[in-house]
Amino acid sequence: MKNSLSSGKETNLLFLQAYDYIVTRMDRGEWKAHDKLPSIRLLAQELQVHRLTVFRAYQLLKQNERAYVKEKSGYFVSPCKPEEHVLPEHADAESTRLFTSSSALKNSLSEIQQIPVEYQFSQALIDPNLLPNLFLSEHVKKVFDIYPKLMGTYSSAQGDEELREYLCRYMVRHHNIQLTVNDLLITTGGQQAIDLISRIYIRPLDSILVERPTYSAALDIFRQKGARFIPVEITPDGYDLANVERLMEKHKPRLFYMNPTFHNPTGYTVPAAQRKQLVELAERYRCLLIEDDAIHEMYLDQPPPQPMLTYDTEGWVVYLRSFSKYIAPGLRICAVMGGPSIIKSLITAKSLADNGTPLVNQKMFLHYFESPRMQQHLEKLRIALQIRKEIVEEELASTGWHWVSPQGGFNLWLQLPDFIPVDQLLEDCLRESVSFVPGEICDPLKEMRSWIRLSYSFVNEEHLRDGVRRLIKIAGRYEAQ
Ligand SMILES: Cc1ncc(COP(=O)(O)O)c(C=O)c1O
Repeated sequence: MKNSLSSGKETNLLFLQAYDYIVTRMDRGEWKAHDKLPSIRLLAQELQVHRLTVFRAYQLLKQNERAYVKEKSGYFVSPCKPEEHVLPEHADAESTRLFTSSSALKNSLSEIQQIPVEYQFSQALIDPNLLPNLFLSEHVKKVFDIYPKLMGTYSSAQGDEELREYLCRYMVRHHNIQLTVNDLLITTGGQQAIDLISRIYIRPLDSILVERPTYSAALDIFRQKGARFIPVEITPDGYDLANVERLMEKHKPRLFYMNPTFHNPTGYTVPAAQRKQLVELAERYRCLLIEDDAIHEMYLDQPPPQPMLTYDTEGWVVYLRSFSKYIAPGLRICAVMGGPSIIKSLITAKSLADNGTPLVNQKMFLHYFESPRMQQHLEKLRIALQIRKEIVEEELASTGWHWVSPQGGFNLWLQLPDFIPVDQLLEDCLRESVSFVPGEICDPLKEMRSWIRLSYSFVNEEHLRDGVRRLIKIAGRYEAQ
């Protein structure tokens, strides 16, 4: 704490670090409700900061109801513990969610997914029964025959070179993108890639552009780093680029986190024509585009447009290509591609985080991904997903709920009538063994209260029909009231 505080360049943010430090100690139970907090002078000494810095931190604690003041006695810990922490300054209409300390560590999506239910519609993941499991188990033995010392070997922090070489060839073949092995880093899933990027690029109060709605776990990561969200609406036609430009000009965001292909949760795809323009905007306004492409190959009919990375010549796109959602979720392989300085910083962050993704996983993935069996697997998956989507749409046809039929991916993004309280519906559904993702957690403004994400990829066909019927029946109770 001493070092980080005393070496921080942005002295005006020191009070946020002091604030975070105090909140963390409260949450650990070191400072309990109604305990007296250290005097400003003492804490300033301990943290080696100016007294005014601690004073501002205490003022913020008071404003966020984490502390209260007793006349002439000092500051005391409040008994209540609100989850969101709002800063007094810098607020404007578009940056609604401000600094949230590390104490607010949260993964709302995983909280819902961990509840065991019979009809699991909150997991945007392939049904494990659709994976070629027998082939995979035979494949494991073969890979160990090729690399007998596999279990006894570390991967480099950057990732297995043989895998990176293969992925370079893959990117040329599929996307005509020329990369070298140095432009690539292997992470343990896309989730880790988002986390590493946040560690490097986001400081408290940095403005970042995020789609509205977006992948909720990414929001949780950014929120935990103290980012200010500048929402960009995503529609079936992509973004309003004039608005994106206005936001970039006004807020000078560090980055724009986007998921432009079979977007999670909506399923929308940003059209090819906008992709080139977005890269031009990123270059002009020096805003890094984080292109999260977790399910590129899960199209139903037509392959999607080429990634934005295709248009990047100046190094303003960081491309995340996770393969864990539909190839072998258990292996958790994601490739991060970008300019040399970005990859270099990410390798450092990766080495600090875990020193490299397990080599066993990388080799398993490489040999499986290369195999002709893989292509057959993808074809079968697309057909299975198409059938599942049709089943859900058929069942929902009579509800009057709204959605735009996605051309790929795992989800339907449904708008329910206003009179259905989605939070209450989720509670009722969980009680009756059905889960879904409430739209609110995917919204950086936390307002999309009549939307839900329904994933049709995880549950088998028969179950899917029964589960959707059960959901409709539960929702129907509100209609009758
Ligand atoms: C858009 C998006 N990015 C990243 C992830 C995380 O992917 P992984 O399983 O590779 O960590 C997900 C998972 O749902 C996702 O939907």
